[in-house]
Amino acid sequence: MTDGVILQVGGLHPTVERELTTTYDALRLPAPGDERERFLAEHGSQVTVAVTGPGMDAALIGALPRLAAVINLGVGYDAVDVEALRPRGIVLSNTPDVLTDCVADLAVGGLIDVFRGLSAGDRFVRRGSWAARERFPLHRKVSGTRVGILGLGRIGRAVAQRLEAFGCTVSYHNRRRVDDVAYAYAASPVELAGSTDALIVVTPGGSDTRALVSAEVLAALGPDGFLVNVARGSVVDQDALVAALASGALGGAALDVFTDEPNVPEELFALDNVVLLPHIGSATVETREAMAQLVLRNLERFLADGTLVTPVAL
Ligand code: 8YV
Repeated sequence: MTDGVILQVGGLHPTVERELTTTYDALRLPAPGDERERFLAEHGSQVTVAVTGPGMDAALIGALPRLAAVINLGVGYDAVDVEALRPRGIVLSNTPDVLTDCVADLAVGGLIDVFRGLSAGDRFVRRGSWAARERFPLHRKVSGTRVGILGLGRIGRAVAQRLEAFGCTVSYHNRRRVDDVAYAYAASPVELAGSTDALIVVTPGGSDTRALVSAEVLAALGPDGFLVNVARGSVVDQDALVAALASGALGGAALDVFTDEPNVPEELFALDNVVLLPHIGSATVETREAMAQLVLRNLERFLADGTLVTPVAL
C-alpha cells in the first residue's frame, strides 16, 4: 500500500517500539528543537504513517506532506489535531474497547477511595496517627448512593454496570439521550450534578467538552458532593475545581487527569479529601499490552489494504 517511512512520535509501549524498529524500520522523531527540524527537513517528505501516543499538532502534520495515516495509542485522540488531518483525507485510528474495563475499574476505585478515605486512611496509618490514638474521621457510604455519569459512552456504561452492583442510583448526561438504558437522563451537567452525590466524568476531551464541568456545575454538586475525573483535565474548569475544594464548597475529588500533566496544582497536595493519581486509567500490564496489539493490527492492516481496524470517524 505504501512505500514510505513509518514514524514513531513520542515514547510508546515497549511492544510497539520493538515491532516498529524490527519489523518496520521505523524512524523516531526527535524531541522538539533543532534536531527535530533537521530530521524533518531530511525525512519529513518520506513519512506516510505516524504512530503516536502523545499526539501530533498541526505544525508536525504539516511537515509530513505524504502522511496518509495516524495510528494513535489511546482511545482519546484529543492531542492529535484532527482539523489538520481532515482536509488532507488522512485517516486516524485509536484503541477503543480494550481499555474500557480498566478505566471503569479505576473510576469506581477513585469513587470508593474518596468516599471512604482509603488514601487518607493509608496516610493516617503511615504517619503514626493511628498509633498515637488520633481519631480518623467518619467518611461516607458508597453503596446505595446517587451517582451521575457525564458521558454515557463505552466507559460510562461500564462504570454504570459496576455501580449497579453497589445498589447505586445511576443517572447520566450525554450529548444525546441513550435509548437502551433505564438510567434517568439529566438535560444538562448542572441538572445532573444537582441531583447526585457524585459526578463521574467519562466524556472525550477536546474542544466540544472543554470546561463542561464549570464552576456552576461544581456549585450544584456542593459541599457534600464528590467529583471523579478519569477523562481529560480539560473537561473540568481546573481553577474553579481547586477553589471549590480549597474552600470546602465541594466535598472531595478523585482525579486521574489534569489540564497540564504531569503538573498538578500544589494547593491540592494538602487536602486529605482529594485523591491524586498520575493518569493511570489504562495503566495495567494486560490493558497496555492489548492496546499495543491493537496499534500493531491497525498498522498492519493499513499497510496491507489502506484500511484500519478501529478507525475514528473524522
Ligand atoms: C493512556 C488514555 O494514558 O487511552 C487514553 O485516551 O488516556 C490512556 O489510556 C494514553 O492514551 C497513553 O498514551
